[in-house]
Amino acid sequence: MPSYFATAIAHPNIAFIKYWGDVDPDLHIPANGSISMNLRELFSRTSVSFDPSLEQDQFILDGRQINDTGLVRVSNLLDRVRKMAGINTFASVESHNNFPTGTGIASSASGFAALSVAASKAAGLDFDEKALSRLARTGSGSACRSIPSGFVEWQAGGNDEGSYAFSIVPPEHWDLVDCIALVSQDEKPTSSSEGHSLAKTSLLQPARVADAPRRLALCRKAIHTRDFAALAQVVELDSNLMHAVMITSKPPLLYWQPATVTIMQAVQYWREGGLMVCYSVDAGPNVHVLCSRVVSGDVADRLEKLSGVQKVLVAHPGGPADLENE
Ligand code: PMV
Repeated sequence: MPSYFATAIAHPNIAFIKYWGDVDPDLHIPANGSISMNLRELFSRTSVSFDPSLEQDQFILDGRQINDTGLVRVSNLLDRVRKMAGINTFASVESHNNFPTGTGIASSASGFAALSVAASKAAGLDFDEKALSRLARTGSGSACRSIPSGFVEWQAGGNDEGSYAFSIVPPEHWDLVDCIALVSQDEKPTSSSEGHSLAKTSLLQPARVADAPRRLALCRKAIHTRDFAALAQVVELDSNLMHAVMITSKPPLLYWQPATVTIMQAVQYWREGGLMVCYSVDAGPNVHVLCSRVVSGDVADRLEKLSGVQKVLVAHPGGPADLENE
């Protein structure tokens, strides 16, 4: 084993076309493809050390020792790495997010992407981007999109070999900005893993999935041609469709809070007034407000003044997951 220790950094991503529901929940093979943008200013930094003196895996997240399902999910990914590397040494994993964890800002995406890069390197595996994306996907589906750079597509694939993400265009292609309006920094009550398993209980999920190829094509085209109006239309439709599935699941999942709706309505109103903005909401109450760089200062100021907005995080298109100092 050439190296035992490695540290990696990965960015979370915001999905323009969302992943919701699996055809294989264990391997996180999604019901539909998805498209996202990495968020440069936000990151997870994860160190992995395979240590022969350990009697079990250890996981420290933001200074706190994790023993519950969080540790199980990390150990499951480490098991895959150990199997591929032919080792049986336990590891100590230490991870830090520079943004609130578990609030719908995809900390599991950046966390599992960074873990995949660091763990495979520390185990002596020389993985290419596709192999890293497939590995990250097994930790958290959307993590496979935090491996490649910039604007990224995850092809559903239908099986383990074919389900991975790749870059559509690099971060420099389009100076979009994501102004993330935080309305709550509490951990969400229902994790996205539980949510994916409920998707099939909504009678709207088949319609959402059937129309996904059309939305993916519209989104790809809007990105390639930097057409904000077209992007806004498909991004809001896709977010609304996912939340329609969520609130019609059994039991229903309603992630929104009153301030979430206040922001969504304000964004629509501002766009009608000529401002290039649109919203997207993941599995949490916070709202991602996309806009072009020229108006991002104005958009962040407007969001900060809305009732219920605690803070606005501003992020630009980000690069790939990478080893630190490489
Ligand atoms: O990767 P997960 O299991 O955390 O699921 C992510 C689900 C959404 O964030 C709601 C949508 C997406 O595509 O990122």
